[in-house]
Amino acid sequence: MHQLRSVIFVSLLSAAVVQIVERHDLIIDTDPGADDVVALLLALASPDELNVLAITTVAGNVRLDKTSRNARLAREWAGREEVPVYAGASKPLVRTPIYAENMHGKEGLPGVAVHEPKVGMAKGNAVDYLIETLSKAAPHSITLAMLGPQTNMALALMQAPEITQGIKEIVVMGGAHFNGGNMSPVAEFNIYADPHAAQIVLASDVKLTYIPLDVTHKILTSEQRLKQIAGLNNQAGMLVCGILNEYVKADMAHYGLPGGPVHDASVIAYLLKPELFTGKQINVVIDSREGITFGQTLADWYDTLKQDKNVFWVKNGDAQGFFNLLTARLSRLK
Ligand code: RIB
Ligand code: CA
Repeated sequence: MHQLRSVIFVSLLSAAVVQIVERHDLIIDTDPGADDVVALLLALASPDELNVLAITTVAGNVRLDKTSRNARLAREWAGREEVPVYAGASKPLVRTPIYAENMHGKEGLPGVAVHEPKVGMAKGNAVDYLIETLSKAAPHSITLAMLGPQTNMALALMQAPEITQGIKEIVVMGGAHFNGGNMSPVAEFNIYADPHAAQIVLASDVKLTYIPLDVTHKILTSEQRLKQIAGLNNQAGMLVCGILNEYVKADMAHYGLPGGPVHDASVIAYLLKPELFTGKQINVVIDSREGITFGQTLADWYDTLKQDKNVFWVKNGDAQGFFNLLTARLSRLK
């Protein structure tokens, strides 16, 4: 009898043990962009963990009209047209605008055909949306994924610094240290495109995580990984393969890599499965002075300067774990 009771207890306990899933109220700020679109598909396919409140767009890889159109395309491809898309800043705070059409093509989306999505932009500007939403949010309740230049967030912080009350964490795709930059030997595009904005966000004292090239250049496509995605035999898999096959060519040639990074999707994977990544809390300073170190993120990994550890800097990631996650979530889409 005693044995039967313990069997019943264990089975009741295991039934009660449910996987605790941390759910994020999330705003995605983005400049789609090939890897941004993959990130948006991954996020919008993961409603159990990510409650995407809105997508806010910024000029970056291409001009604002194209990044905004491409955000709406990703939303349409994910079947999530209820998520509003707000357009934000069309140029950086101070520097002359730069774009990355050499990487992302004239339309900002290589390897696939683009069209005018059915559902339009939300009314109002992204910066006003950020101020309104973060000011009224419950304390430290909203996560932000920053996938492009941080201009929108910087403008919102300058106009209404009190919005930090609503921010739980900002996860930034940006920066480079051990890997070296992709716009100069020391500067990564998202920071280089608006270092003044990145400095303002850095100084805002919110919980900040950086997903730099140090880790995104370790999470690379391969023939097998792209075949895994193609094998889904759905539109989402076909689109991601088309986009990535084209997008990674330049990085593979430039760095002599066997595959290419999917930078922005690594931010979403970090939110979904942080256990795939490792890093540490360090001091980071950004250089916005004109000159050869313009846009550099000075990451004090060994705490040489004994300064305030203001950023969680992610250095490593499980590449196969990332692609397994991406493939599994894309399988949910049409
Ligand atoms: O350096 C990589 C970053 O710059 C990515 O966000 C990519 O989309 C580009 O914006
Ligand atoms: Ca981007």
